[in-house]
Amino acid sequence: MTGGTGLLALNWACAMRGQSEVTLGTHRHGARLPGVNSLRVDLSDVDTLRRQISQIGADLIVHTAGLTNVDRCEEMPAEARHANAELARNVAEVAAAAGIRLIHVSTDHLFSGIHQFYAEQATPEPLNEYARSKLLAEQWVQQACPDALILRTNFFGWGYAGRQSFSDWIIYSLRAGRPLPLFDDVFITPILADALAHAAHALVDQGASGIFNLVGGERISKYDFGTHLAAAFGLPLELIHRAKVEQAHLHAVRPKDMSLDNSRLRQAIAYAPGSLETWFADLREQERQGRREELFDAVFEAP
Ligand SMILES: NC(=O)c1ccc[n+]([C@@H]2O[C@H](COP(=O)([O-])OP(=O)(O)OC[C@H]3O[C@@H](n4cnc5c(N)ncnc54)[C@H](OP(=O)(O)O)[C@@H]3O)[C@@H](O)[C@H]2O)c1
Repeated sequence: MTGGTGLLALNWACAMRGQSEVTLGTHRHGARLPGVNSLRVDLSDVDTLRRQISQIGADLIVHTAGLTNVDRCEEMPAEARHANAELARNVAEVAAAAGIRLIHVSTDHLFSGIHQFYAEQATPEPLNEYARSKLLAEQWVQQACPDALILRTNFFGWGYAGRQSFSDWIIYSLRAGRPLPLFDDVFITPILADALAHAAHALVDQGASGIFNLVGGERISKYDFGTHLAAAFGLPLELIHRAKVEQAHLHAVRPKDMSLDNSRLRQAIAYAPGSLETWFADLREQERQGRREELFDAVFEAP
């Protein structure tokens, strides 16, 4: 997995360890996770990457690395293009040349957000540099590796000390007694990271390729996501108040509706999507079993 110290890769590794041998390919930070290998990889140099992938003996590459801070992408479009598109193309070239299956992780952020439940065929209309760089990545990955599986998603799960997920931010804020503004005019179709990983592997087992919306089936505002999550964790709802994205004066313009239609996924793998209610229960169970604590210290400053 590239982006091995990211939210998705760490949770994906937790979901798959024990079933598959997983190597977290890291960049600036290091990762320590029991039952999982870790190796610093160079995604910027195709020859080095080819050698490293061959040493690992990978039969599947999951490319999650990228610059995910939307406002930073807006400020530094060249960096966004490099981290999100150029590195994805390098990974795709290496995968194609070595005949290794590739999962490329894309985003739900590609559309203008004036409609709901965007299907895979909907025409992307990126509103910001993050979205533009991720769209370019999809195009370059498809050119370099036509058999790649491209997953548009929106996920949640436990993060670590230096990187909070959306669900972490809600849980930690409420546990600390901090008031929490959440947008009631931004809509998503989120999925638990572990459910994403399992469905992605089911798609690979089917030999699927091309673009899939790998999301949950429930379109929900960020505000409602927060209140439902808080209720599931027994946290104080009264600390959550409604906010509007337009009044937040964020640097980059964001789509208001990022909901995706997961029909293609459901048909391909007879996918019985979990519900947010079951995934929130899973998230609680993960915490009870030690996932939150384990991941909290899993990432460190590499020497
Ligand atoms: N988070 C979300 O809600 C969300 C929603 C939709 C789609 N996605 C997509 O899902 C994927 C994973 O997101 P995430 O939230 O797990 O990411 P993340 O937590 O922000 O982690 C990003 C990872 O990419 C690595 N990285 C950054 N720049 C790099 C570079 N130049 N070369 C090599 N590695 C680099 C980082 O390593 P260092 O820190 O060591 O640099 C880190 O391991 C991304 O492709 C993102 O676009 C995310």
